[in-house]
Amino acid sequence: MSGLPEVAYLLKRLRPTTLAFDRLKDESRLEGYWMLVRLADGWASGRNSFRKRGEALYGAWHGRELAGVCGLNIDPYVEGGDQGRVRHLFVSAPHRRAGLGRMLVETVIDRARRYFTMLNTRAPPQAFVFYERLGFQRVEGEEFVTHRMMFGKGS
Ligand SMILES: CC(C)(COP(=O)(O)OP(=O)(O)OC[C@H]1O[C@@H](n2cnc3c(N)ncnc32)[C@H](O)[C@@H]1OP(=O)(O)O)[C@@H](O)C(=O)NCCC(=O)NCCS
Repeated sequence: MSGLPEVAYLLKRLRPTTLAFDRLKDESRLEGYWMLVRLADGWASGRNSFRKRGEALYGAWHGRELAGVCGLNIDPYVEGGDQGRVRHLFVSAPHRRAGLGRMLVETVIDRARRYFTMLNTRAPPQAFVFYERLGFQRVEGEEFVTHRMMFGKGS
C-alpha cells in the first residue's frame, strides 16, 4: 500500500453502473479476470440484480476510487435457496494485501450467516490461500465449489 494516500476504506452497497465501476471492470479485464464483466452483464440484463432474499452487492471505496467489489447471491447451482455464494470478488491490484478482500468477504459472511446454512465459492487456485485464511474449508470433487463455510447454530 505504500504510495497510496492514507484514506480509510468505506464499504457501501453498490450499483455497478458508475464510471468508477467501469474503471475497475476495465482493470480486471486487462488482468484477465471476467467476474466484473459478468457482473455488469447480469445487472444490465436484469438476470442478477442482487435483490433476492439475503442477497447484496458491496463496493469498497477509497475516496472516489472504487477499490474492490464483492457480491452475495443465493447459490444458483444448488436447489432450495438455502445456500449462499460469494461472487464477483475483485480487489484492485494496488490495494491488495491491505485487508480489503478480508473486509469485503467478512461483510458477506456476516450477512450470509443470517440467511443461509452455508456459503460456497469457486475460487481460482491463486485465491485458495486467501479463502482458507478467512476460515473456508477446501472442498474436493464438486464442480462448482472449491471452498465452503458452514454456519452451525449459534455461530
Ligand atoms: C484474492 C483477492 C480478493 C485477495 O484480496 P486482498 O485484499 O489482497 O486480501 P487481504 O489483504 O484481505 O488478505 C486476507 C488474508 O489472505 C491472505 N492472502 C491474500 N492474498 C493472498 C495470496 N495471493 N497468497 C497468500 N495469501 C494471501 C493475506 O495474507 C491475509 O491473511 P491474514 O489476514 O490472515 O494476514 C485479490 O487478490 C484479488 O482480487 N485477486 C484477483 C481476483 C481474484 O482472484 N478473485 C477471487 C475470485 S473468487
